[in-house]
Amino acid sequence: MSVQMKNGGIPPKISGNFYGKDFIEISQLNKEDVYKIFEQAEEIREAYDSGSISDLKVNARAAILFFQNSTRTYSSFNRACQILGLDVFAEHGMSAFSLAMKGEFLRRTIQSIYQTQMLTAGDVIIMRHPDTNSSHIAASAVDASIVNAGSGSLRHPTQALLDLYTIWKDIKNLNNIELIFMGDLKFGRTVKSLGSLISMVGKNIKINLVSPDICSLPDKLREEWEEAGVKTTQTTDVLYVTRLQQEWFEKSNMMNEYNKIKADYIIDYELIKKAKNNTLLMHPLPSNGEMEDPKLDEYAGARYLNQMKNGTLVRSALIRQITKK
Ligand code: NCD
Repeated sequence: MSVQMKNGGIPPKISGNFYGKDFIEISQLNKEDVYKIFEQAEEIREAYDSGSISDLKVNARAAILFFQNSTRTYSSFNRACQILGLDVFAEHGMSAFSLAMKGEFLRRTIQSIYQTQMLTAGDVIIMRHPDTNSSHIAASAVDASIVNAGSGSLRHPTQALLDLYTIWKDIKNLNNIELIFMGDLKFGRTVKSLGSLISMVGKNIKINLVSPDICSLPDKLREEWEEAGVKTTQTTDVLYVTRLQQEWFEKSNMMNEYNKIKADYIIDYELIKKAKNNTLLMHPLPSNGEMEDPKLDEYAGARYLNQMKNGTLVRSALIRQITKK
């Protein structure tokens, strides 16, 4: 188990030092930690562009274990590890392994990969899993650092970092920002982590929550954000759209409701043109009908493509901080 998880399974505070720690939830970070990642991402971007990336390489191993589908997160973590020169084992289809087929417990699967890949403390296991506590379980099973690449419908901390980094690239002062979170705020995990992150980093943040009633943000989270000073608003600097999470509707036997509301939240070029000047249009992707208009790519504030490259940079930054002594 990672040393920091010994006491009660609460992930350690980063407090300026990422080395050898698990990164599982936003509550581990303070403001300085976030800016440290942003600055490291900038350094990696410059080194990559100028051909001096070999100076930033680290000597460590990574296992990338995905128990849920992914295009962007999986490929960007892979690329991040390659950029840093890590020795990588990557498997996208973990749910077809013994865990699902033979009923193995997650803890044993993680221990098995740790052993077969000959990992040690200072190495990383990057994992995505449908259960909210999966990263916590993994962190208590092995000495390598666990990086949460999306767990259950609650946490996606590295997506939040790349989202906030994308916003920060346009809006340097992260105070007084107004956002709209639109789509599935109940099952979607990206907005939950982003809301928690921006309410910790920025002052006077306003978030307007737009969703069908059955997909509204859990009350507990809204109360937490309000306690951190977040207010609700109608205008916006950032419109952050998410898809309706069809697979969670299926799991909850709610496909009738899904079919009723699926056409209600569509953003096209005609609509976004009417937005306040400079509104940034973001989406973690995949989109599922709500943002397919190809003309949207011409919108000056479109940032959903930038988000993906930023994801590779931010994840490189995070992994470098965790693995470099
Ligand atoms: C998101 C996820 O998996 O939570 N995708 C991503 O990581 N970019 C969003 C989603 O699936 O809707």
